[in-house]
Amino acid sequence: MAERILEMKNLVKTYVMGDEEQVVLKGINLEINRGDFLSVLGPSGSGKSTLMNIIGCLDVPTRGTYYLSGELIRDLPEVSLSHIRNREIGFIFQQFQLLPRLSAQKNVELPLIYAGVSEKVRHQRSAHILERVGLAEKMKNRPNQLSGGQQQRVAIARALVTEPTILLADEPTGALDQQTGHQIMDLFKELHAEGKTIVMITHDAEVAKNGSRIVRIVDGNLSEGVYNA
Ligand SMILES: Nc1ncnc2c1ncn2[C@@H]1O[C@H](COP(=O)(O)OP(=O)(O)OP(=O)(O)O)[C@@H](O)[C@H]1O
Ligand SMILES: [Mg+2]
Repeated sequence: MAERILEMKNLVKTYVMGDEEQVVLKGINLEINRGDFLSVLGPSGSGKSTLMNIIGCLDVPTRGTYYLSGELIRDLPEVSLSHIRNREIGFIFQQFQLLPRLSAQKNVELPLIYAGVSEKVRHQRSAHILERVGLAEKMKNRPNQLSGGQQQRVAIARALVTEPTILLADEPTGALDQQTGHQIMDLFKELHAEGKTIVMITHDAEVAKNGSRIVRIVDGNLSEGVYNA
């Protein structure tokens, strides 16, 4: 039996601008099981980042329900949402979002500091995961001493190190040349084969094809496309 880790029912997100209300997500229904590699494909302005912010517990729905690991995600105090984020979500961004003054290894250790892990264990786990993404030789380098692809590998290691329920990636190849982008997608596919659950947001249909499932979002409406695997 597949283990359901995410469920959205009739999820609506509206933004109020003055006295205008804009409905950005228009009743999203989505289910994700452990081990899925889901691509969310959609054009600019369709609501991808809005959906990603809700999946990542950076924002909450206006109406409808969102369950993550069985827990109802609603308008909770920021400190509660940040605990859920730290435990459940590994974020990967287009622009890597590494801290420039810290080594690759220290960047990867950061989420473990927030999670209260001891220095010794942080050191071991960050080294292990950096090896896993092919950066054993670069752990002491700062981000500006790394290529774009290497920086994204550090960001992926940082996302993996807490063993989150979902790896959540927003345009992870958007800042990379095509060949480097392919290498990062190969790494995602390996992680998927190891059983990781990945949600990847992209506007690029070729990139989306790396997923095992594709959903399309157009003007705030989501529909499931073809299954690749
Ligand atoms: N904080 C906000 N307040 C008001 N409107 C917003 C807010 N954030 C997003 N929107 C609106 O919601 C719609 C969807 O935006 P969103 O950022 O989710 O699109 P996107 O699919 O991520 O686009 P892109 O591919 O350009 O990043 C847009 O019309 C945008 O103007
Ligand atoms: Mg966006």
